[in-house]
Amino acid sequence: MNIAFLGYGQVGAPLADHLQRLGHQVTLAANDPRSERLKTALAKNPNLDVAAPREAVRQAEVVFLATPFQANQAAIEAVADEMRGKILIDCTNPVGANLSHGLNSLESGSELIQRMAPEAKVVKAFTIYGFENFEDTSYPGYNVKPVMMYCGNDMDAKKVVGELIAQLGWSPLDVGGLEQALHLEHMTLLWVRMVRVMGQSPHMVWAMLRR
Ligand SMILES: NC(=O)c1ccc[n+]([C@@H]2O[C@H](COP(=O)([O-])OP(=O)(O)OC[C@H]3O[C@@H](n4cnc5c(N)ncnc54)[C@H](OP(=O)(O)O)[C@@H]3O)[C@@H](O)[C@H]2O)c1
Repeated sequence: MNIAFLGYGQVGAPLADHLQRLGHQVTLAANDPRSERLKTALAKNPNLDVAAPREAVRQAEVVFLATPFQANQAAIEAVADEMRGKILIDCTNPVGANLSHGLNSLESGSELIQRMAPEAKVVKAFTIYGFENFEDTSYPGYNVKPVMMYCGNDMDAKKVVGELIAQLGWSPLDVGGLEQALHLEHMTLLWVRMVRVMGQSPHMVWAMLRR
């Protein structure tokens, strides 16, 4: 697939790297060609393409949004006229003071993003764990794969995202429509508090058992 990344820091860079190595055409949407994060991502994987944001999004079928939450509006506005019909994977989390929900739990960040990009098909994914798990998605010693929960309103878009999640080594778990994003964002806060505050391993992930 042709995939663009808005943001290629701790989250975007490892996902872009893995997806390129899986055979996808991956383009980093570069605002600033002097960005240190851009240089770091390219040093790790020189086969990543680089283009100006509008050009990167124009040629993409799937766009990852992996920017700081406060930068989402500017990042989306810059490419808004290229977003029609694109799958927009929201990897961002609204985080407020003292690890609270950044929108006071009144709505999810993903629903806000869907309003910013009304013609895109927003799917929330790659948010419920820290970046360490995007660098390395292997969990040796287990016979189940960790889940990657995702949600969105467009079933075709979710099918594509579910396939990308599986290719990256996770067990995709569709948790419903975009209204579920608020609950995923709270799951993120749960993980962040357990790991970054309480000292659990940053490689702690969730699995689903059924019977
Ligand atoms: N860190 C985690 O463990 C983690 C896990 C899951 C989800 N998240 C979420 O993922 C998002 C990214 O986090 P991160 O840790 O990867 O951040 P990061 O390392 O600081 O990287 C942010 C990226 O966004 C780019 N950016 C900033 N402002 C922009 C704008 N206006 N337009 C376009 N690009 C812009 C930066 O570009 P430059 O390089 O040019 O500055 C950089 O590539 C956040 O919303 C965070 O909540 C983080």
